[in-house]
Amino acid sequence: MRKLKLAVMISGSGTNLQAIIDACNAPEYPAEIMVVISNRPTAKGLERARQSGLTAVCIDHTEYENRADFEAELHTRLKENEVELVCLAGFMRLLGADFVSRWKDRMINIHPSLLPSYKGLHTHERAIEDGAKFGGCTLHFVRPEMDDGPIIMQAAVPITPDDTEQSLIQRVLVQEHIIYTAGIRMIAEGRVRVSGRKCVFKDTNWPETNLISPTP
Ligand code: GRF
Repeated sequence: MRKLKLAVMISGSGTNLQAIIDACNAPEYPAEIMVVISNRPTAKGLERARQSGLTAVCIDHTEYENRADFEAELHTRLKENEVELVCLAGFMRLLGADFVSRWKDRMINIHPSLLPSYKGLHTHERAIEDGAKFGGCTLHFVRPEMDDGPIIMQAAVPITPDDTEQSLIQRVLVQEHIIYTAGIRMIAEGRVRVSGRKCVFKDTNWPETNLISPTP
């Protein structure tokens, strides 16, 4: 089976990376990880990658004069490893317009909110403070504007009065792992295409259930 060649770019713990590693370990999964790149030497995800026998490299942004040099090195490593799809998974560096346009429609990101709400940081804390009744996560193609781009998949979870930032992070992370691996599969199977500002899909199920919280 032809497999889509992935890079996973991280900065921290790498639980999404772990979910992608686990998915790729299944023989019928249509993607494989060619390289894991962290911009932070201490990222726990580097350890996860090495333990799984993957090529794991640190490209430390602090060692580069400017963003262009850092991104040129990223680009070189991605090309060297014949990467076809770049998966940002907790990669905490904004990428410049040049780099993003070179990987247009070939780079995806997971964001811990239901975009276009709550772009940026501290998404769960802000949603709890606002009394929002749902939180969630979004897998999307990357555009130069932060947390913007055609939406591939979203998952919503309820926010309860007892939730803390930590409990909500955990509830949403479970869903992140599900939609990240499912979204990569859809892309690898050629079932997602970007058309204008949106994604269009082939052979996809659309649930018609309404979500209401609190339950009346
Ligand atoms: C996730 O919440 C992701 O949505 C955000 O950064 C976090 C990364 O978590 N972009 P992990 O490193 O995959 O555990």
